[in-house]
Amino acid sequence: MAADRLFFSSRLTTRRSVLASLAAAPAAIWASRAAAATADLFPPGFSWGVSASAPQTESWDGRGASVWDVFAARPGIIKDGSSMRVCTAFDRLYRTDIGLVAAAGVKAFRFSVAWPRVQPDGKGPADAGGLDLYERIVDAMLKQGLEPWPTLFHWDMPAALAGDWRDRDTAYRFADYAGAVAGRLGDRVRHWLVMNEPSTVAVMGYALGLHAPGLASRAAYLAAVHHQNLAQGLGFQALRASLAGDRRIGTALAVQPIRPAAGGAGNEEAARRFDDAWNRVFLDPLFGKPYPARFADAFERLCRTDDLRIIAAVPDFLGVNYYYRIYVRHAPATPLGALPSAPPQGSAVTGLGWAIEPAGLAEVLLHLQRRYANPEIVVTEFGAAFADAAPRDGVVDDPRRVAFIRSHAMAAGAAIAQGAKVRGLFYWAPTDNWEWTKGFTAHFGLIRVDHRTLARIPKRSLAYFGQCARRNAVV
Ligand code: FCB
Repeated sequence: MAADRLFFSSRLTTRRSVLASLAAAPAAIWASRAAAATADLFPPGFSWGVSASAPQTESWDGRGASVWDVFAARPGIIKDGSSMRVCTAFDRLYRTDIGLVAAAGVKAFRFSVAWPRVQPDGKGPADAGGLDLYERIVDAMLKQGLEPWPTLFHWDMPAALAGDWRDRDTAYRFADYAGAVAGRLGDRVRHWLVMNEPSTVAVMGYALGLHAPGLASRAAYLAAVHHQNLAQGLGFQALRASLAGDRRIGTALAVQPIRPAAGGAGNEEAARRFDDAWNRVFLDPLFGKPYPARFADAFERLCRTDDLRIIAAVPDFLGVNYYYRIYVRHAPATPLGALPSAPPQGSAVTGLGWAIEPAGLAEVLLHLQRRYANPEIVVTEFGAAFADAAPRDGVVDDPRRVAFIRSHAMAAGAAIAQGAKVRGLFYWAPTDNWEWTKGFTAHFGLIRVDHRTLARIPKRSLAYFGQCARRNAVV
């Protein structure tokens, strides 16, 4: 701790002015020499990790159905018509992936526990075999010197819970499940994430109909926000009750700066609305603030006496998933009165058309520092999909992904230099996965997966990220 304090208080003041200007800079600057000032700013023990999830990597053997199985089976939903039947078969091949990631020098592996594997019906006694799998995965990571970081909910709600997040009872079911996982893995796991991106679930799944369960309703959105917040608070309680004192419990939120799309009356106000609906309805109550004023009445109707106290879990660290800024346009006929739209013309983009905006990461980290009393933060996801070249001599050359990682690590360094307490950086994802509605068409991995043979082929970005981890610096 003493080293950390020293690090944050004094070492960097001399670089402060360069770095302050960097935090607001356009993408190109991150490749420049000035940005090199951020290269070695990472505190001792910084977690350089990779991030993945059960529904995108595990096969469906041995688990109950999830809402995503049901949604993906609807015709025309998944771009390549694929299902989650095999994904990358991580449940069988985890030793291979863990071995490659550990050998590269990476320090930590975030994965998720599938609720429908632990409780196929979403309630009742935990399935011992389901928990055994995660025990084996955790042990394999520890054996290879990788720190396991489980997430308890990464969108794959058991389909048997027919009321999904619209039903308040689901929050209590989730807390039971969280307690069962903690009871089994608590003796060997130190870092925990309760949830992953409840905003994506509520907005994409309940307001815009683009993710499971495919609803497009304002009432469904409001219920999904509040009941996920409640589940998360109850999840913190369940973990805290059953884990020893040195555990660190966080939750992963998608924190994206919201900007008005260019031209178009009402876009400014739409952006403010969307910021409340995407960011603040989750962040504010987690840190003990009331729900944003525009939603106060709506949530009042869903709140019971103790809810806000339970929701204000004040995490040991905040997990931040950052991909890009969201540009928003006025859309009065939609449940949130706003819709995401394309990034500004001429933006550098990934293979999915997502704007490449490393400065947005520094912006998010500094915003959280100011607004929520400088919490400890771990960047639990950042990453990019590109159409990678074919492998040559047993490796995939992916210079755009290397540049992407470098620029974002620099941006995190710039935020650290200005006092943000960033403790880790997790790249999404170790392998090319099943990418929700994109199926197998979006390749984020540091390791290529041939989805017919399941063969793994490392990309150069794996070695690059591992080198940063070994040196605790941007190389
Ligand atoms: C995030 C999700 C993750 C993955 C990445 C690309 O929003 O948490 O599962 O799909 O995007």
